[in-house]
Amino acid sequence: MSWHINILTLFPDMFPGSLGQSLSGKALEKNIWSYDTINIRDFAEGVHKSVDDTPYGGGAGMVMRADIIEKALLSIENPGKKIFLSPKGRVLDQKMAQNLSQTSAITLLCGRYEGVDQRILDAHDFEEVSIGDYVLSGGEPAALTLMDACIRLLPGVLGNAETPTEESFSTPNLLEYPHYTKPASWNASDGKTHDVPEILQSGDHGKIKAWRQEQAQKITQKRRPDLLGKK
Ligand code: ADE
Repeated sequence: MSWHINILTLFPDMFPGSLGQSLSGKALEKNIWSYDTINIRDFAEGVHKSVDDTPYGGGAGMVMRADIIEKALLSIENPGKKIFLSPKGRVLDQKMAQNLSQTSAITLLCGRYEGVDQRILDAHDFEEVSIGDYVLSGGEPAALTLMDACIRLLPGVLGNAETPTEESFSTPNLLEYPHYTKPASWNASDGKTHDVPEILQSGDHGKIKAWRQEQAQKITQKRRPDLLGKK
C-alpha cells in the first residue's frame, strides 16, 4: 500500500509539478506514493461555477465557500488526516514531515483568494499547516513542499548515497557542515584561489569527523541558535 495524498484544489494541473521529476518522480512511477487531485470547481453549480463569494462583515477579496468545498471533500473515499495549508498554521518542521510520512491517507486543502470559510475547517477538523512565515498566493506550492518533505522519507525513495542520517534537520538539530569536491584548488572568476580545507584531504577520518561536527555546531550557533535548544 503506497503513501496516498488527496489534494483539493482549483488548480489540479499544478500537480505533480516538481514532484514528477527526480527522486520523487521515480518514486511516483514505482507507486511508492500516489496522489489524486479533486478539482473543487467540479462541485460548483450554475453557469458561472463560482466557488467563492464576498466576505460577511465586508473587506477585501473573496472567500471560498464551505458548502462547495464540503461536496468535494465528501467525494473522497478515504480522506484520512485533513490539512489546510495556511500561513496561520503550525509551521512545518522535520518532526511533522516524519509523522505525516507515516500516515497512510492525507487530504490537503489548497486555498486561493483571501481564504476559505472558517466553518469548513471547524466542521471537518482540518489542521492548519504553514510552510513558513511568508504569504504565498495559494496553498498549492505549500502542498508540494509538504509532500516533498514527506516523500523523501518514504522507504525506497532515497538511495544509499542520499541517506538522510547526516544532513540538515536529521535527529540532532544541527545544520549541515560544508561540502567540497574536486578540484582541490580552484581559481574562481573572483581572481582568487579557493582551496578545499587541508584536513578533508588528510585521510584522517577521526579528525575529519571532529572538524565536520565543529563546523556544524558553528554554523548552527550563527544562523539558527534556536535549534540548539530543541529536543
Ligand atoms: N498559503 C499561503 N501562504 C502559505 C504558507 N506560508 N504556508 C502554507 N500555505 C500558505
